[in-house]
Amino acid sequence: MTDSLTIRRPDDWHLHFRDGEIMLGVVPYTARQFARAIVMPNLTPPVTTAALASDYRDRIRAAVPPGVRFEPLMTCYLTDTTDPDDLARGAADGIFTAAKLYPANATTNSASGVSDVAKIYPVLERMEAEGIVLCIHGEVTDHDIDVFDREAEFIERHMRAITRDFPNLKVVFEHITTADAVTFVEESGINVAATITPQHLHINRNAMLVGGIQPHNYCLPVAKRETHRLALRRAATSGSPKFFLGTDSAPHLRSAKESSCGCAGIFNAPFALESYLAVFEEENALDRFEGFASLYGPAFYGLPVNEEQITLERADIAVPETLPLTGEDIVPFHAGQTLGWRIAG
Ligand code: DOR
Ligand code: ZN
Repeated sequence: MTDSLTIRRPDDWHLHFRDGEIMLGVVPYTARQFARAIVMPNLTPPVTTAALASDYRDRIRAAVPPGVRFEPLMTCYLTDTTDPDDLARGAADGIFTAAKLYPANATTNSASGVSDVAKIYPVLERMEAEGIVLCIHGEVTDHDIDVFDREAEFIERHMRAITRDFPNLKVVFEHITTADAVTFVEESGINVAATITPQHLHINRNAMLVGGIQPHNYCLPVAKRETHRLALRRAATSGSPKFFLGTDSAPHLRSAKESSCGCAGIFNAPFALESYLAVFEEENALDRFEGFASLYGPAFYGLPVNEEQITLERADIAVPETLPLTGEDIVPFHAGQTLGWRIAG
């Protein structure tokens, strides 16, 4: 039995830091685990320009604890009126690593998102030409589409069109939750990949709805039925470079989750690697963890892999029921459970 695992330091290819006090509280958790993270731009107001992204990056860098090496990679929040020149300049200047497509009103702070994908075709054309990665929240928002079908419907209505009309555009299908998305990504070209969160590997929709409403297991896209979870586990542990780590850690205070209208998002940053490792161990795929966590993401984004290494060792680690944040508290993913690995040192 393997008792320790030394791998290149991983990166998180999908993450929410928020801003202000919450950001100050959550950045250290991610910086402890990851060398870099793709930072989502769904702030209020959203990060829609290179200037806003540069300022936000400064604030994140200032929140990294002294002596810790961590680099935030910024994304541009696409709207119906995104300026392709500003985006291209921001990418050329090293401010933007990717741009994020939120369908308008699909999720938290997405009201300014894209109302019709056709409206951003000139932007996508420019991104394809410049090699800028497009990150997609793949859910339709139509009220007549069942929430559990919104990802599969997005594939039919939009993913096929985007990948057909921009065959060389680099696309990351974010936080996939269905077997349909796994198949779509597998059958697409090498420029189409996906991130997978720890929660979608661990829980199915029962975890959200059985025994009373479980708000801390609610995120978007919502967890689906068990067959989909199993498809995601197979994809993540398959050794295919099309699937890589993206936590979608999305901090909301406990008071905002335990409310009559609870926010979507699971805060998994404090124990993210430990959570993924439990899955890879259960699937007998510890030897494939480094690819998923540390190699395939940089390869897709065209960035160097991290030279630094980390060691994970077998040890019981008790996840607290809550963690203090901004004078209130927040419930981490796996609250109250014991995980079997920890980061050494
Ligand atoms: O559960 C989610 N929370 N899904 C998202 O797409 C956004 C995120 C957030 O920002 O809270
Ligand atoms: Zn997200």
